[in-house]
Amino acid sequence: MIFNEQLIAKYNQPAPRYTSYPPANYFQDTLSSEGFMELVEASNSAEPRNISLYFHIPYCRKRCFYCGCNAYSMARPDETKSYTDSLIQEFRLTAEHLDKQRPISQVHFGGGTPNALPIDLLRHIMEAVSQYFSYTTDAEIAIECNPAYLDASYIEGLAQLGFNRFSLGIQDLNEKVLQAVNRTPSKLPLPELMQNIRNTIPAATINLDFIYGLPLQNPTGFSKTIDRALSLRPDRMVTFSYAHMPSIFKAQQLLEEKGLPSPSDKLSMFQNAFEQITAQGYRAIGFDHFALENDELSQAQKAHQLHRNFQGYCTRKTTGQVYAFGVSGISQLENGYIQNSKSIAEYQAALAKGEFKVEKAHRMTPTQKIVREAINELMCNFRIDFEQLDQRLHQPLGTVKNTLVLNLQVLDAFALDGILDYTPQSISMNPEGILFIRNVAAAIDPLMKNNIHAFSKTV
Ligand SMILES: C[S@@+](CC[C@H](N)C(=O)[O-])C[C@H]1O[C@@H](n2cnc3c(N)ncnc32)[C@H](O)[C@@H]1O
Ligand code: SF4
Repeated sequence: MIFNEQLIAKYNQPAPRYTSYPPANYFQDTLSSEGFMELVEASNSAEPRNISLYFHIPYCRKRCFYCGCNAYSMARPDETKSYTDSLIQEFRLTAEHLDKQRPISQVHFGGGTPNALPIDLLRHIMEAVSQYFSYTTDAEIAIECNPAYLDASYIEGLAQLGFNRFSLGIQDLNEKVLQAVNRTPSKLPLPELMQNIRNTIPAATINLDFIYGLPLQNPTGFSKTIDRALSLRPDRMVTFSYAHMPSIFKAQQLLEEKGLPSPSDKLSMFQNAFEQITAQGYRAIGFDHFALENDELSQAQKAHQLHRNFQGYCTRKTTGQVYAFGVSGISQLENGYIQNSKSIAEYQAALAKGEFKVEKAHRMTPTQKIVREAINELMCNFRIDFEQLDQRLHQPLGTVKNTLVLNLQVLDAFALDGILDYTPQSISMNPEGILFIRNVAAAIDPLMKNNIHAFSKTV
């Protein structure tokens, strides 16, 4: 990717992040428990047939000041037991409506901090899953872990439960930065921790998360962190831009008082990290995710088979209909999205009556299903081949082209700036343009013609 400051100034405009289509602020429907289960039952005959399960664990031992996730400090250790009981109950209620012949290709534990749960509670959840379903041979069993609470015996427990994808929240390797954001450093030194996971689970894929834009960070220090991480050859890395929304996440106000890096330092951290990581044999998946060339995400991108759901990037082969459990979890089904209540009390009270508490939902229109596929294709595989997409969607030729907003003046302007190539058959992003992929997606999205929602800036 080439960083052109003039283009950044021109295109750094608000646009959806497109982690879903339509974007989550379009989810405005309400849905009863019965309506929810109707969507679940309809998903039994949808493509892809595989099942993806997401379990949200909202607990952390303490909260990091920058955090924008749905996470709470644990008031009492026994809270996690009653929450796990609710999760299992919710899973069983949903599983009753699913075709048991469908295989599981993905399980993802996210949070919060899933490894804040005692390993026995994770075992109870995994045992409940196995009572109903079997797995594909190459199923991904993934967990987001805070390394402050990860040790050899916990890793051994995860190995016994079949976990094979580990995402470790590192954020920065400078302890002063971690201290400034109220975060405990890794319990084991990172080289030892990664070696331990690799020795215990030889097939494990390890991802490391970083954030740039926090107090005390600067381009030199963040480059050192990235170099130290690269020397350990993680399979994947993510460099998140710190998302600062202090009106929603009050603790973030404390970071403003400590002083945040300037926008130009933030851009340098992003640019340096991108160049350091891609120079070491990693492929950029989007612009903030990276994977080794032999990793399945890189292979999938090369074969135009990369996909994405709320849990992150995945391959077309592993992704399924996503059924989410726990507070704030979002089920992503062929015909709609359903988000659970964000409140633990509300979520548990509804389940105590055998019901689901839906926070918000969205039923997909036929047009939105077509645009969803096209925008996913652009965001993941950097191109849209109109005819290929018509075929994949079993639509008459020309449907995708007629559904998207293909304004020639707008596309020509992108092409003149070197952002994309456009032919009557396809749109393909140039390496110089990938930074502006959200601008291109918004330009072809029919929903953006009359948009009334606020979005973050694209760069
Ligand atoms: C659920 S956490 C990861 C697991 C575990 N809780 C931890 O912190 O290690 C998911 C990731 O979101 C990222 N994150 C959280 N808040 C963020 C924010 N305000 N801006 C950007 N990234 C953020 C962090 O990189 C974090 O690793
Ligand atoms: S970053 Fe992770 S550990 Fe920190 S508060 Fe958020 S979810 Fe919890």
